[in-house]
Amino acid sequence: MALFDKTKNGGGSYAQVDERLTHIAFILDGNGRWAKKRGLPREFGHTEGAKAFKRIVRYCGDIGIKVVTVYAFSTENWSRPKNEIDRIISLLEEYIKGAEDELEENRIRYTFLGDKSVFSESMADRMRRLEEISAHYELRLNIALNYGSRAEIVRAASELASSGEPVTEKSISEHLYTAGCPDPDLIVRTANERRLSNFLLWQAAYSELYFTPTLWPDMQPSDVDAAVADFYARERRYGGVTQP
Ligand code: FPP
Repeated sequence: MALFDKTKNGGGSYAQVDERLTHIAFILDGNGRWAKKRGLPREFGHTEGAKAFKRIVRYCGDIGIKVVTVYAFSTENWSRPKNEIDRIISLLEEYIKGAEDELEENRIRYTFLGDKSVFSESMADRMRRLEEISAHYELRLNIALNYGSRAEIVRAASELASSGEPVTEKSISEHLYTAGCPDPDLIVRTANERRLSNFLLWQAAYSELYFTPTLWPDMQPSDVDAAVADFYARERRYGGVTQP
């Protein structure tokens, strides 16, 4: 389906965002609870979560958001039961294959945030290939996989130390996985949890945070509308003061 197919945006009603909202990031939470509420194994929640992911990314494109980042799998998530990890990885693998097939239709630039070396050779190759062949598109989708923000900052610092480059805010930003991306304007976390859980700690310095009780698999365009409306009702001062 085309990214900008307005007839299929799932009931969202937002017209278009402006330059104040360039980058929105999502912490996907509540897949397990969604399944548990229905007496289903947790894996079912992830399958529905993957559908919600596609729906929400498409809608963000529809309303003109230029960069979307999702926290799909953290470095801590490896401690989950094997069958759950296997389901998440296979959903991701399937998604990556599909993204390559639909690249010309969707016109998205994909970037994977995190250490790819832990994945199978074939999955890591697919991730790298998708990054390469999509690099010329303007709309960006960052998928955090095997990602942890502190490790990302340590990696940036050690790259700077070994290259001898001066350590500045700019040089650190340029050595993060998100290099070249604007910082998130808005970070949305679902399922009533109110913390960042080692996600984009450096990049979130001035992000607005929005928490919703909606479980991730239930996320609809109308929930994005609510987050966007809340964002626009805020005043961002970046540590300054409002002029009278
Ligand atoms: C958090 O819910 C969700 C995850 C740790 C995994 C998210 C992964 C997917 C939705 C599949 C990825 C697929 C694509 C295509 C991006 P939780 O399991 O922690 O929920 P709980 O807190 O209710 O247990």
